[in-house]
Amino acid sequence: MTRQVDDIPSHMELRAGGTLLAIECERGARPHILYAGPDMPRATAREIALLATRQHAPGTPAIHLRGSLMNEIGTGISGASGLTGHRDGRDWAVDLRVSALDLFGANALSIHCEDANTGIATRHHFALDPETGLLTSSTEIENRDDRPFDLDWCAALCLPFDPRLTRFLSFTGKWANEFQIEEVPAFQGSIVRENKAGRTSHDMFPGGILAAPNTGEMHGLSCGFHLARSGNHRLRVDRHSDGRGFVQMGELFFPGEMQLAKGERYRTPELLIAWSNDGLNGVSHAFHDHLRDEVLDPRTRSKPRPVHFNTWEAVYFNHDEATLIELAEAAAEVGAERFVLDDGWFGSRRNDTAGLGDWWVSKDVYPNGLHPIVDRVRELGMEFGLWFEPEMVNPDSDQYRAHPDWVLNANGVEPVPSRNQLTLDLTKPQVSDYLFERIDSLVSDYAIDYIKWDMNRDTHHPGSEGRAVMHGQTHALYELLGRIRSAHPTLEIESCSSGGGRADFGILRHTDRIWTSDNNDARARQSIQRGASHFFPLRVLGSHVGPKRCHITGRRFSMAFRVASAVFGHMGMELDLRRENESDLGVLKAGIALYKQHRELIQSGRFWRCDSAPHTNLIGCVSRDQGEALFSYAVLDTEVSTLPQPIRFAGLDPETSYRIRMVWPQHNPSISTPSIIDAADLQGEGTVVSGSALMGHGIQPPLTFPDTCLFYHLKACE
Ligand code: GLA
Repeated sequence: MTRQVDDIPSHMELRAGGTLLAIECERGARPHILYAGPDMPRATAREIALLATRQHAPGTPAIHLRGSLMNEIGTGISGASGLTGHRDGRDWAVDLRVSALDLFGANALSIHCEDANTGIATRHHFALDPETGLLTSSTEIENRDDRPFDLDWCAALCLPFDPRLTRFLSFTGKWANEFQIEEVPAFQGSIVRENKAGRTSHDMFPGGILAAPNTGEMHGLSCGFHLARSGNHRLRVDRHSDGRGFVQMGELFFPGEMQLAKGERYRTPELLIAWSNDGLNGVSHAFHDHLRDEVLDPRTRSKPRPVHFNTWEAVYFNHDEATLIELAEAAAEVGAERFVLDDGWFGSRRNDTAGLGDWWVSKDVYPNGLHPIVDRVRELGMEFGLWFEPEMVNPDSDQYRAHPDWVLNANGVEPVPSRNQLTLDLTKPQVSDYLFERIDSLVSDYAIDYIKWDMNRDTHHPGSEGRAVMHGQTHALYELLGRIRSAHPTLEIESCSSGGGRADFGILRHTDRIWTSDNNDARARQSIQRGASHFFPLRVLGSHVGPKRCHITGRRFSMAFRVASAVFGHMGMELDLRRENESDLGVLKAGIALYKQHRELIQSGRFWRCDSAPHTNLIGCVSRDQGEALFSYAVLDTEVSTLPQPIRFAGLDPETSYRIRMVWPQHNPSISTPSIIDAADLQGEGTVVSGSALMGHGIQPPLTFPDTCLFYHLKACE
């Protein structure tokens, strides 16, 4: 229920889910965040305002510079302003003052501001998720003047952060090595990350985590933030000489891209922010639960994530009906539940140089259409999925020959070549309509259950009719996805972009799964998935068992390790099953059975990253009632000491006793005896240990070769 407040209070608190947001919002003054972070029970905004009063420092302005939600130019705040724009070089000093306040129930509010001088008005939206305490914020700007306003930059918010948060953890990487954490220790000045890729990107994830010096996975203060958008963005973290710091995130515009005519509005993407006093896991828990409950389609929430078989690394472009049917049969035999036909089924697409954009089943390759394969897949009890790359076109395609003007361009600047393809201009209704018609009719004809929606190049020239339109292109993409989902309510869609190049909460409002990385190297996947888990829950992270010799890194791994590295995610496989020997197929089948047995726990349990030795990866899922848990412990390099350190689990009930068993690999992995396995019978009946000892002392893992992954299953005893 919305309520406009007549007597605007000078101070306001929003308090929910363990978060406190305290704002100063006096009518006619600049609105200002006094505090945003873990709740301080009973603290009021008014008393925080008092405590925040600072003395005058020599050589600084005569008043205390308070800043504002946008830190506009005239506030005197030294760092970057959150809002910049002008009218022909004038009206550049916007000064926003509170004019109204809306309350939406107990957990959300909007502050209206106006500036009579420039004719600019804003609304600043804040909502606290009552379950997780995650704050969603965005800013809306309106031009009330007759003359157009050129908006150069509008942050969702200038978020002040606790000065104790001196470390910045950023998420960077590249194709086939996404979600790598790069830590920037204490710094003065600014960190700026700008993404112009036209997609979320592999190297500039739109988000980061600020942490205190002593913060780890389990302890300490941290603040995670993420911009829910799949286009260009800017992230900046500014630390000022007066000790204050601000985070800003928003869309990155090309010159002149965002011009507001009279009465026009622009709303920033949502900035999602979560705080924790209990380490990085606390931040992740808020993002995971918020995504599950507020962002994902409810159908995905309740449906167990089916095991995939994807054809890409099995056959690449060499499509052939008989081979694919043989693969479908082999996949069903080991436990696949969904068969996804990847690139190469349409037009003249026999390699990546031609045919993209011609979304008709190739008559040369499939004279009977896809029906024989789809029918067989269904007979085998699997769902059917199909690959598309709708936003792209090969110049060597019927589509491009018929409509060369359908691609984005920059006023005749020669396009940068990339994977032999160009980006279509989705802001043109005829382009989006064409794509909708093609996808809609194929989904209907074959009753397709799942689309792998790919996007395989950066967009360097996002122009249409002479103007930059990356903002409009991202919106048009969301609209197209929304249209397809409305027409096919049970269809699921995966967001792939050369692997994990389009992974964000904006795209996940319209899709159901992320293809985490093209890299199926089991060892690399341990770190890629651990990185991604800071924001994304396992249920959306596609993780596949790849071929014995990884096609991207050339490394070889045992089937037991490949399987184990794919279980903690949305499991699938992507390999030529005809080349695997009987014994490895048996291991694969057993691993898939293990995933199915525990998938409810993996997908709905509480996920924990544990602190463990640097050459290891210990992660786990604990049921919400703490009655059951599954932990994955991967050894990724040779031990530093003669024996491994004990591993300490997390998230268990200290008062409960658990029967702990090692349920993977199938055989004793110890390379030395006697071991904990023999002493505690972990591969037999298991042993009963208290939650407090398992977390406080930990268990001695066996000495193993590197590239071994063990699963421990824990069940509460009556
Ligand atoms: C991208 C995807 C792969 C595969 C190929 C097909 O690289 O990330 O998974 O679908 O395209 O061309």
